Amino acid sequence: MRREIHFRLNGQAVSAQVAPHENLVEVLQENFGLYGARESCGQGMCGCCTVLVDGRAVSGCLYLGSLVEGTEVLTVENNAEPDAVQQAFVEASAFQCGFCTPGFVLMTRQLLAEHPDPDDDTIKHYLSGNLCRCAAYPEIIEAVKLAARKRRM
Ligand code: FES
Ligand code: FES
Repeated sequence: MRREIHFRLNGQAVSAQVAPHENLVEVLQENFGLYGARESCGQGMCGCCTVLVDGRAVSGCLYLGSLVEGTEVLTVENNAEPDAVQQAFVEASAFQCGFCTPGFVLMTRQLLAEHPDPDDDTIKHYLSGNLCRCAAYPEIIEAVKLAARKRRM
């Protein structure tokens, strides 16, 4: 049985009809047509399904959709503000196929919110739950550093 939940999505107040078993990726795709967070491993291992809930990265494949009731949800489609992180990923060519990129972008947003000037070890620690099958890791780390500089300007 579905129930209505209310939350903020990319800066807008929204509601959705959610079944108890649905995960957050399914809720975002089926109710709002948002496909930036996508399910890949389905086991919390790859980070492709990363979504920010109240500023914290969660694995949307494992996170029950009904749990976002009353929260602030951010996906890669958020364009309520200029996103230095997305700009930095483009400028640093920090992707090849791009399948993993939304997850890395959102994880980087949390990283920079908590560490505005991160060193390499901190970057690797935060991004350790995000996998890139194209192995664009050197460019991704450069993109994170570039985003950090952009945000400090
Ligand atoms: S699909 Fe969620 S972590 Fe891989
Ligand atoms: S750019 Fe292809 S998986 Fe990361």
